[in-house]
Amino acid sequence: MHLSRRGLLYGSAGVAAVSLAGCGAGEEPAKLTGYTGIAMPTTTSTRWVVEGADLEERLKGYGYKTILEYGEDDIPTQVEQIQSMIDKNVEFLIVGAIGNTSLGEVLSKAKNKGITVISYDRLILETPDVDYYASFDNYQVGVLQAKHIIAKLGIEENSTQTFNVELFSGSLDDNNSQYFFLGGLDTLESYIYQGSIVIPSGQTEQEPTATERWDRKIARERMTALLDEFYKDEPLHAVLSPYDGISRGVVEALVEADYEPGSDDFPVVTGQDAEPLSLKAIKNGTGQSETVFKDTRLLAEVAAKMVKSIVDGSSPEVNDLGTYDNGFKFVPSYLLSPVDVTAENYEQEVVDSGYVTEEAIDDATPDEG
Ligand code: BGC
Repeated sequence: MHLSRRGLLYGSAGVAAVSLAGCGAGEEPAKLTGYTGIAMPTTTSTRWVVEGADLEERLKGYGYKTILEYGEDDIPTQVEQIQSMIDKNVEFLIVGAIGNTSLGEVLSKAKNKGITVISYDRLILETPDVDYYASFDNYQVGVLQAKHIIAKLGIEENSTQTFNVELFSGSLDDNNSQYFFLGGLDTLESYIYQGSIVIPSGQTEQEPTATERWDRKIARERMTALLDEFYKDEPLHAVLSPYDGISRGVVEALVEADYEPGSDDFPVVTGQDAEPLSLKAIKNGTGQSETVFKDTRLLAEVAAKMVKSIVDGSSPEVNDLGTYDNGFKFVPSYLLSPVDVTAENYEQEVVDSGYVTEEAIDDATPDEG
């Protein structure tokens, strides 16, 4: 058996052997603790909560120990949490970053201790010290959202009818935001040029459309401001929203402005993450009409298997070497496919597949504040 730097055998047999061949200059071998540190961004969105627990369970199933922390959208907290994991001699770090360029210093310390770093879902930028990236085809997320708008409004190529659309994008310091936005904009582009889609606010760039920390309330405020400024005498037909929390903020603003959910002139609103509360709106026709489902069970499996492969002495499976440049290198990536979810297929995609129960959807309680 070929043993890598971390070519260890864990589990009941305990630690068997290690080869230091893979250690870089000045890099100490990671201490053999069998620990993986999992640094997740926030508990305010269900996906990360589910994934933290899922990653722990999978890694434990492979016989490894875990330390799980949530940074609650605060960059210094996440840096401290990662530092503390390094101090506890984790051998692997799985990081869902809060700020994509804020981890260089702490990760260089991780690298010096020979820790393998897996960038989880969000690519960590401007550091050479990221080994692997596990995520989804993030560009495709935006494509699916935009296609939903086109299909739902029934916009035809060269239509003479005009539809008013507004664009929202995610947090500027999350690398995924630009991919979601670009996928959406590229898909809408020909309709915009040809005039069947109009963006009355003129806000078509990532910066003015951004939503800091993906915050629902910030999205609600921006939607209210847009409605006040551009839609006093004009109907709004659709909102490209990148994430369910933002979508719900948008819907709240629409309702406040007397758009009636379920009515024919309620704007088409997209989303992402298949959160129970958003699925409830999709199911009942009371808000957004779409979400992009990223099966995070598969993502957790990919990341946990990366750890297992390295421990077993082999290279983790990747399927993309040329898309995700983090400023230092193209990070070897494993990308999964996102799925478009509407009232027509939510049952099959998210309920029958066991991702969320019908009860959890029905019982989802409204957002607070
Ligand atoms: C994730 C999305 C999520 C967003 C807000 C992004 O990095 O890829 O799935 O909706 O963060 O949490």
